[in-house]
Amino acid sequence: MFLRFQGRKIKEKQRWVSMIGAKNVTLQGNVNNKYRDMKEFKRTLVTSALPYANGGIHIGHLAGVYVPADIYVRYLRLKGEEVLFIGGSDEHGVPVTIRAKKEGITVQEVVDRYHNLIKDSFADFGISFDVYSRTTSDTHKKHASDFFRKLYDTGKFVELESEQFYDEEAKEFLTDRNIKGECPRCHAADAYGDQCEKCGSTLSPEELINPYNAATGNALVKRPTSHWYLPLNDYQEWLEKWILEDHKEWRPNVYGQCKSWLDLGLRPRAVTRDLNWGIPVPVEGAEGKVLYVWFDAPIGYISNTKELLPNDWEKWWKQEDTRLLHFIGKDNIVFHCIVFPTMLKAEGSYILPENVPSNEFLNLEDDKISTSRNWAVWLHEYLVDFPGKQDVLRYVLTANAPETKDNNFTWKDFQARNNNELVAVYGNFVNRALQLTKKYYDGVVPACGELTETDKATIEEFTNVKAEVERLLDTFRFRDAQKEAMNLARIGNKYLADSEPWKVVKTDPERVKTIMHLSLQLVANLAIAFEPFLPFSSAKLRGMLKMENADWSRLGNTDLLVAGHQLDEPALLFEKIEDDAIDAQMLRLEKIKEENERLKQLEEAKNFKAQPIKPNVSFEDWEKLDIRVGTVLECERVPKADKLLKFLIADGLENRTILSGIAQHYAPEELVGKQICFIANFPPRKIRGIESQGMILSAENFDGSLGVITLDRETKNGCPVV
Ligand code: 2FM
Ligand code: ZN
Repeated sequence: MFLRFQGRKIKEKQRWVSMIGAKNVTLQGNVNNKYRDMKEFKRTLVTSALPYANGGIHIGHLAGVYVPADIYVRYLRLKGEEVLFIGGSDEHGVPVTIRAKKEGITVQEVVDRYHNLIKDSFADFGISFDVYSRTTSDTHKKHASDFFRKLYDTGKFVELESEQFYDEEAKEFLTDRNIKGECPRCHAADAYGDQCEKCGSTLSPEELINPYNAATGNALVKRPTSHWYLPLNDYQEWLEKWILEDHKEWRPNVYGQCKSWLDLGLRPRAVTRDLNWGIPVPVEGAEGKVLYVWFDAPIGYISNTKELLPNDWEKWWKQEDTRLLHFIGKDNIVFHCIVFPTMLKAEGSYILPENVPSNEFLNLEDDKISTSRNWAVWLHEYLVDFPGKQDVLRYVLTANAPETKDNNFTWKDFQARNNNELVAVYGNFVNRALQLTKKYYDGVVPACGELTETDKATIEEFTNVKAEVERLLDTFRFRDAQKEAMNLARIGNKYLADSEPWKVVKTDPERVKTIMHLSLQLVANLAIAFEPFLPFSSAKLRGMLKMENADWSRLGNTDLLVAGHQLDEPALLFEKIEDDAIDAQMLRLEKIKEENERLKQLEEAKNFKAQPIKPNVSFEDWEKLDIRVGTVLECERVPKADKLLKFLIADGLENRTILSGIAQHYAPEELVGKQICFIANFPPRKIRGIESQGMILSAENFDGSLGVITLDRETKNGCPVV
């Protein structure tokens, strides 16, 4: 049972708990608030963000959303709570249409391909959804359409006309993401209409300099179009109270982001788009318009519940005793904390989320994970390289979860956590305990004798594990909770090291029985404690222990395996990951980096616009310039001048010295022996005390880099350039 207290001091909470005689109670809520209300929850509905079906699932998705959600759901199930875990693919919106254009296939083909890939990846990694459906399902299309219609019929929208960017050739309005142009802040040539990926600024298409259609390159014009808007501003006051006063317990990153949105003042938000992919707006005269993807996607949580439980779904969405939790990444906060709750409130018959445990972002090797740049570790690829090692990734991603700030995944850390923690701590303890039991007792759990002070101290150390892990999981602190589970193995290793059964067996075999009995209890506790985190390894370990179920209620006990119980053959739980496997991953990333650099340069060259042509000059003027060929005899840096190189040029006369500002583009030795072109009749001038007798000609590239003009066939020094 979950009770959420708004306010009330801890003591008062406890008085309530004893008054209603509740057992197995989790207290939530802010203790410093004034008392407002008390809610009793009978069941928990967990949703996890519906990923766009425009690519596979990568470690960022897994760490940010799906592993924590799965741990939480598995934990509640182990506790015997009534819980549902809802997932699905987000198959509308611009991202899938962009992918289709890129791959040259239909949008339907894109969503079919990636929905199946995503679904399989989740299954492979043990993400234990009760339902995984898609927003192109009939149930969803109807439910989202009806939802819109109800808000429309009850006057909850405002219809507004505005000027939007239009491609006259392609005859289509463009959404922000489909528009590109020059960034007004950093002047990157290819910023998106909603964001510049180079400097990270949030933009609107109006701000872009020379906006164009990202797909076709066509220039855009403005055209009026009308849309339906959800007037978030009308809900500002209500949201301020609901979030800022009633939900102070939300994570600081979530609360803080909501507060800044609210402080800025909410504005009406369009919930329809001019697009040919999506759920048609169910209003007469709205042809060519579809529901905005962020309107229909969260309704997908409801539709998918309905698909799973056609006759019972309303209990999960409309009864106040259901606790609704949204697991998401930080880019989804505003939609789940402000927009979707406003939609639900406007509709009127739904419950609101109790909490939105959003994570920050996970980077990969210090760089932002990006689908378009292929800068990611894809789950389906990981499994090819590390077959059967799902739990290793789950473990590392939880140990490194970006719960309070952005975090970094590195392959070195992955290897270290596997080798130094899973293998050396968890696996090692389990293996030693099981091997010794096999050796001494043929795999039969020995009886426990009299306990020594060391035994008692060890038991004391782990009896609290259940309360501790629960306290952390109840407050969505998955990293720390997993650390607590791992602590059991550390306790076990220390216990074996201190009690040295391999030595004692020679002098006091009776005592060894107790040591091994207790060690096996710790092993059994590990299997239970890790069940929500590492389900595959826990199942394997339970197999070795011949332990049918993980009984969470008995976590922390010392009688999980009774004397005389026959264990199965021990096998290694984890195995070392060697350097070459990690080197292969690093090499793969290196190649991706090189490829991205190549593509970036291509793109920049494509987008480069040359300077306008200067006013005409006469032939006589041109003839006045004496440009000649020379050979570089010597070249050296000029001391204390970063940019200057000093050249000695053979010019067919008496040789000359020329200074040129290209030191940042060439190493001095690079040009020696090359034939170049220089202006011979510039008046000599002194730079840094050296007389420069002319100017070497270079071409300036679009990115400011310089390339010296050299000759492609040998020419006598001093010959004119004509
Ligand atoms: O950011 C995303 O990947 C979105 N597809 C998440 C949608 S969550 C929910 F609203 F469905
Ligand atoms: Zn920029």
